[in-house]
Amino acid sequence: MKISFAAPRLPHAGTVAVPVSEERKLGPTAAKLDAESGGALTRAMAASRFKGKGEETLAVLAPAHLEVARVLLYGVGKEGGTERAPWQNRGGAMVAQLNAAGERMGTIVVDRPGPEEAAIAADIAFGARLRSYRFDKYRTKEKPEQKPSLEELAILCEDPAAAKRAFQPLEKVAEAVFFSRDLISEPANVIYPETLADAARSLEKLGVEVEILDEKQMKKLGMNALLGVGQGSVHPPRLVVMQWKGNPKAKNGPVAFIGKGVTFDTGGISIKPAGGMEDMKWDMAGSGVVIGLMKALAGRKAKVNAVGIGGLVENMPSGSAQRPGDIVTSLSGQTIEVLNTDAEGRLVLADALWYCQNRFKPQLMIDLATLTGAIIISLGHEHAGLFSNNDELVERLLASGKAVGEKLWRMPLADAYDKLMDSDAADVKNISGARDAGSITAAQFLQRFVNNVPWAHLDIAGTTWSKKDAPTIPKGATAFGLRLLDQFVSEYYEER
Ligand code: BES
Ligand code: MN
Ligand code: ZN
Repeated sequence: MKISFAAPRLPHAGTVAVPVSEERKLGPTAAKLDAESGGALTRAMAASRFKGKGEETLAVLAPAHLEVARVLLYGVGKEGGTERAPWQNRGGAMVAQLNAAGERMGTIVVDRPGPEEAAIAADIAFGARLRSYRFDKYRTKEKPEQKPSLEELAILCEDPAAAKRAFQPLEKVAEAVFFSRDLISEPANVIYPETLADAARSLEKLGVEVEILDEKQMKKLGMNALLGVGQGSVHPPRLVVMQWKGNPKAKNGPVAFIGKGVTFDTGGISIKPAGGMEDMKWDMAGSGVVIGLMKALAGRKAKVNAVGIGGLVENMPSGSAQRPGDIVTSLSGQTIEVLNTDAEGRLVLADALWYCQNRFKPQLMIDLATLTGAIIISLGHEHAGLFSNNDELVERLLASGKAVGEKLWRMPLADAYDKLMDSDAADVKNISGARDAGSITAAQFLQRFVNNVPWAHLDIAGTTWSKKDAPTIPKGATAFGLRLLDQFVSEYYEER
């Protein structure tokens, strides 16, 4: 789908979408079309429940005296709203609607002359682009009518050049979101530690420095917690280390992002039940998002120094797999009793977090992980779990999540939970042994590998994969966290 910006005009074909605010108040272009069609739009509204509320649309087909095939009235609610997510949602929803209708050409009229019009146009375009994502490379037998029909989308506003400028960085972010969604959607016979590392390597062409540590190098460093998880697989583990140096003069340490990259999680010897196990192809989403985030930052040349780390392993049962009860010495020197080989993400992150803070002295660390089924019990699919040792970091993450519509909910950390992870045989055990507070005890485990660095852990197990369409997210891989952290960096950590 091609997206363009242009000055206001009346299109001669396809669909023209025009805004209507609450109480059915037609915008200028809608009013003009209504007059030209002899009041067809007013009558169509009267015959429907469409009121012009923020999420409503009403399609009017083949209106008399107009050349266009369809007028799409889109509600914008009360006038004056400049919050970004609703505009992105409108763009996304309209793309979905036009594709469902078999439309080839769409024109969206913004009709909001004023200083914020260009930004609104850019957000509509961003939402439209995000919704147009499809993972269809393995669908070789789709009929034309099953494929998306919309080829061109034009967005009309007074200053198309300004809209185009505002869209530029957003387009880079959308590209990165698509890249992440692709990586997360790929099956585990295609994406395993080596191939996921190759994908990260491809960011070199954008100026990202990429290092890939292999098994031997990790062994030498002492990353036995991570290595233990991968030892049952024929696919050897990798650690990817990406650096984007967009602010060479900075005095602070970099911001660091660490992703769980379990390319398939069978559970290992503590094997998972068969039903639903296929979902565990997306147990690398944390890493998939971190790689995508680095692509976004580099793509839009963010003035920040950022480090991205992915701990990549496949968790398989085999004769060489880790056993329940095994004790490993982590990179931090702490010993870990592995009581359940299915609590593997935290083992991977333990070494990745320690490596990150030791090597880079970051000003903050944020990890993303599809870490626990328990977070789905707590928060469902609406919010990701946020755990942190730093209130300012929490404020900033919550605000960023709200701004982009990727919502977080803070969960507690406390000594009483930490105690539950004490082991009789080693320094720490990888499960508490009870199901209570499963997401919190997982986070407490991670915190044992954080040395007072401002740190946050995002448990994205419930938000990484969507079973239903949302305005800017077709069902499937969401890349949850990418837009949030891009916003977080841009709002609080970029040199201006
Ligand atoms: N990758 C899973 C968590 C998960 C579950 C993500 C469902 C997405 C959807 C993780 O490695 C895991 O298996 N966690 C266990 C921990 C338990 C053994 C303490 C879980 O949540 O059951
Ligand atoms: Mn697991
Ligand atoms: Zn897992």
